[in-house]
Amino acid sequence: MQESGKVTYVSLETDESFHGDYEAALIEIEQEFGKRHPMYIGGREVTAPREFEARSPIDPGILLGIFPEGGEDHAREGIAAANEAFLDWSRRDWRERIAVVRKTAGAMEDRLFLLAALLTYEAGKTRYEALAEVGEAVDMLRYYCRVYEQNNGYVFPMRSPAPGEECRSVMRPYGAWVVISPFNFPVALAAGMITGALLTGNTVVFKPTSKTPLSGMNLYRLFVEGGVPPGAINLVTGPGGPFGEAVVAHPDVAGIAFTGSKAVGTWLQRQIATVQPYHKPVVAELGSKNPTIVTASADIAKAVEGVARAAFGFAGQKCSATSRVYVHSSVAERFLQALRDRADRMEIGDPRRREVAFGPLIDDDARLTFQKAVEEALRDGGRLVAGGEVLEGGLYGRGVYVRPTVIADLAHGHRLFTEELFVPILTVGTFETLEEALALANATDYGLTAGIFAQDPAEIGYFFDRIRFGVVYANRRGGATTGAWPGAQPFGGWKASGSTGRGVGGPHYLLSFVREQAQTRVT
Ligand code: SER
Repeated sequence: MQESGKVTYVSLETDESFHGDYEAALIEIEQEFGKRHPMYIGGREVTAPREFEARSPIDPGILLGIFPEGGEDHAREGIAAANEAFLDWSRRDWRERIAVVRKTAGAMEDRLFLLAALLTYEAGKTRYEALAEVGEAVDMLRYYCRVYEQNNGYVFPMRSPAPGEECRSVMRPYGAWVVISPFNFPVALAAGMITGALLTGNTVVFKPTSKTPLSGMNLYRLFVEGGVPPGAINLVTGPGGPFGEAVVAHPDVAGIAFTGSKAVGTWLQRQIATVQPYHKPVVAELGSKNPTIVTASADIAKAVEGVARAAFGFAGQKCSATSRVYVHSSVAERFLQALRDRADRMEIGDPRRREVAFGPLIDDDARLTFQKAVEEALRDGGRLVAGGEVLEGGLYGRGVYVRPTVIADLAHGHRLFTEELFVPILTVGTFETLEEALALANATDYGLTAGIFAQDPAEIGYFFDRIRFGVVYANRRGGATTGAWPGAQPFGGWKASGSTGRGVGGPHYLLSFVREQAQTRVT
């Protein structure tokens, strides 16, 4: 067993020893499937009149679990329980909360392979993507503990000019937070948001997306195992609509941490701003349309590898995925041919198989999005460089399997260059000058990740100075725009891609969950 998630991340490509443990976990985790689960509010098990089934995208015939369809009442009960638990949890010494989060990280690491196997079943991740995600979560928790420690729990002595005044600045938690997590990183991104809130002394009502509730349930249990007391974390499952309506209007909601679509994130922000009597924080990490630029000086083999991994890793279902490339016209055909060969070589299919690099899409809505976009591209003069098909039957079982797809020759303003689709379609355009490439890359409301491949350092400097995205990479073969790691790349979107300007897994993230209190005692 590895010592930390970082070791997992580094060793996956070079170390073969994990395959046996992961494959054993694939079998062991099946014992957890098909069960009926409750929600947890104030430490109590809670059921609901209606239930829903979670099924595997690998094959919807695999029933992962049956979960309560929590509604508005459960959202309100969760917030009430989180409020009740707040005073005790927030008054604990900050070192005690660090110990709880460290214990949670340890428990998560002990279940590294089981959680990864679950991610394969529930989200459709390959073993590499799944293990990297759990490793990312473990490292995220430990990183936040270090940051909190380095900042002395955000307690700073101050100096007053008035005699006898003892002053300090204390960054204090707000109260009961709602955490809403996405299907594509159901462990790492959920664990990061929950930890941001809990570590700093807030309490949490956690609602995982109904596409991945079993990962959410496991995460809840890990935090309880780590020592988070009843009510300080609560779990509500079910659809997003009624839950969202109830929490934005609740007078006792202190803040919302949300990772997901721009549409839902901006709705939450607007509702909070309109319905609540004063400003309440919304930590939103939203979508993007991430560009990668390939200049004439680029190492084309490296660019192809970096772009293929970033566009087609986890079948393109990452907010960090490269979904548009601007390539210098002089190297465009060479780049496209090599990219087509790379995409065509990807083994597609059941992600439980070791050789598979590209698993299923999450659901049938994603298939429709994929098909509609391909049809639209062809209708509008696009050239299908790779992929385009939905794969059915035989090896592909009953999940939604498509081919990694590359489309060229569309006009720059086309919807495929501007709208986030969350499917494995990469749109490629050409440019003549770097100035033009930057203008194209920046012509969007989004601003999460961006990449460049160039061997000329001046081009990289030009790119870093002008690109208006929060996470930017040069010459990253392992993923042109993906794979930010806690403590290495703070992961935060600019513009419509994020609300705080403080990246996940970065030194400033925890500050979004606290506010300053200036304390003065006169002695
Ligand atoms: N760290 C992941 C990435 O950058 C997302 O959380 O792809």
